[in-house]
Amino acid sequence: MDVYEAIAKRMTIRDFDEREIPLEIIKKLLSAGLQAPTNDHLRRWEFILVQDRTQREVLIHRLDKPRSPQSVRKILDGWGLIEPIQREMYMEGIPKQHSMLLNAGALIIPCFYTETPLLKPETLSSLNSFASIWCCIENILVAAASEGIFGVTRIPFEAERKTIRRLLKIPALYETPCYLALGYPAQGENRSKQCEVNLEEKIHFNRW
Ligand SMILES: Cc1cc2nc3c(=O)[nH]c(=O)nc-3n(C[C@H](O)[C@H](O)[C@H](O)COP(=O)(O)O)c2cc1C
Repeated sequence: MDVYEAIAKRMTIRDFDEREIPLEIIKKLLSAGLQAPTNDHLRRWEFILVQDRTQREVLIHRLDKPRSPQSVRKILDGWGLIEPIQREMYMEGIPKQHSMLLNAGALIIPCFYTETPLLKPETLSSLNSFASIWCCIENILVAAASEGIFGVTRIPFEAERKTIRRLLKIPALYETPCYLALGYPAQGENRSKQCEVNLEEKIHFNRW
């Protein structure tokens, strides 16, 4: 598949069918990730593959179980969200945070090396290792789309981040940016509508 096609095809999916992703394919995707640009040339990225269902359940047991649409609406009102298309995505996504990680064909915890405390950056460069791992994740998502595999990233809350570190024994100088759940889409899965972007309005020539 052409790279533009794979980019256009990539979408967030939160409903997966039951198929596990064969290890050979996961390795292919991670290999694509490991070719992303990197801040220090070393690509000090590691991937923890959590396929054991019991271990997954322990890892994510603190996540919210499905909420009623009414309680999700309340959360969105609290955040002050008014864009209908954005609200629709959150209405769809929030109740699936637990199930999408539990049911994914592959649950990957990407880790990256950083000597500076992740949440206390002092300069833009302090964020380089964090930025690099996201380049790696995007490569994985685009490669996955070309294989008919889709996924979602979830940013762990602080308590979750601590649980991930403790349970998965992540070494002190490594951090994780997100859970990365990948899988084959469930039949009739629901994809959020995308907001229309007009390229012509996004380009600024010579100055904003
Ligand atoms: C940095 C980042 C954080 C995200 N966090 C979450 C998350 O915590 N939970 C979730 O369900 N989706 C999360 N997403 C997925 C977005 O909701 C999704 O990418 C967005 O709605 C655009 O839709 P698309 O990926 O289908 O183009 C995240 C995406 C990014 C890039």
